[in-house]
Amino acid sequence: MEIGAFHYRADTLFCEDVELARVAARFGTPVYVYSRARILANFRRIAGPLGELDGFACYSAKANSSLAILGLLAQAGSGFDIVSGGELTRVLRAGATPGRVVFSGVGKTSDEIDAALAAGVLMLNVESAGELDAVESRARHRGAGRAPVSIRINPDVEADTHPYISTGRTIHKFGVPKADAPELYRRAARSPHLEVRGIACHIGSQILDVEPFLRAADEVLALARDLRSERVATEYLDLGGGFGIPYREEHPFEFSRFFAELERRFCGEGFRPLLEPGRSVVGDAGVLLVRVLYVKGTESKRFIVVDGGMNDLLRPALYGSYHEILALEHRDSERSAADVVGPLCETGDFLARDRSLGEFKPGDLLAVLGSGAYGFVLASNYNSRPKPAEVLIEGAKARLIRRRESADELFAAEIP
Ligand code: LLP
Repeated sequence: MEIGAFHYRADTLFCEDVELARVAARFGTPVYVYSRARILANFRRIAGPLGELDGFACYSAKANSSLAILGLLAQAGSGFDIVSGGELTRVLRAGATPGRVVFSGVGKTSDEIDAALAAGVLMLNVESAGELDAVESRARHRGAGRAPVSIRINPDVEADTHPYISTGRTIHKFGVPKADAPELYRRAARSPHLEVRGIACHIGSQILDVEPFLRAADEVLALARDLRSERVATEYLDLGGGFGIPYREEHPFEFSRFFAELERRFCGEGFRPLLEPGRSVVGDAGVLLVRVLYVKGTESKRFIVVDGGMNDLLRPALYGSYHEILALEHRDSERSAADVVGPLCETGDFLARDRSLGEFKPGDLLAVLGSGAYGFVLASNYNSRPKPAEVLIEGAKARLIRRRESADELFAAEIP
């Protein structure tokens, strides 16, 4: 059996050539474990075809911003999609090429705009008229050349995903209405402090259907052609990220069809496509390993209490999202319904609900699959719990890429 980068060998769960129980024994639990080979394979599946269209992939750092993983992707030639000054610092520290960094987000501060201009990013994806003014004013103030911009349009495309991570409709805070874009572009093109580089859009996350992306691409291309007829050149067409991954039995995103359709649209147009994949690069390359502390029951429920919870992996609590749970040692036992819950004092602190699971006893190890994206990055110190460790598997080697936080670090910034 094989799930992403994880597979059983004689009833024992492995990541690449490393037995996961050994990782837990060596580094403790809860611990995130990622497969280097899987991350690179996922990245190449997107970057390869994009390269053929004269574009490139800007990995969305928010999905997993561990320096080791950013470094791995930078070395593989990835650009980056960032949304904060913190992410800018991180990707630069990890070896990113600034000319391959796009800066998204509705609320860039002047300090963040200054830092991006100083670093020489490819473009700031501007999300409002006010932000365009702010970027222009910071560029004027800097007096060191034009600020490269694109405008993120809201294509008003419906996509089937969780309402918290859908972004491409007019009810959402993101981008500018597509009808307002031409005037903003004219303004930008007239400014001596701005340089129009592209058009951006992003319709949401965990979208498994190709169609909404194609509709958004058509909107972006139509705008690019209109602008070209007005002599406003938009070299880069950034179609965002959002490609879904199967968490249970969903049909995987059809990258081959998507790229075939993109090719049809971009061929001979002279525009360069960019994509900002996050989840599809790291999601299925990571698991969270937890250890069973107690097994308890009430008349209506069986609870498997583990040592990792919502502060380590927030997605189930925040979105009700489903993550497959596997035993590190597969045993044949009778299955029955159970909740896998963490130690935090919240009813919402669960990793799985009403799952058909085998028998477990204290000390057993479990892997929570599909935790490579929006896992560690959403971890918090709630209940004064230290953030978990992170380990990267490279063939037969397990490398610690972030040590477990210590109790002292929990309050190191505090002034009593
Ligand atoms: N580009 C922009 C402008 C974005 O806002 C996002 C994600 C991405 C790219 C990357 O999207 P991806 O390829 O990873 O779907 N915490 C949520 C997901 C939030 C996504 C936010 N924006 C989750 O755990 O499902």
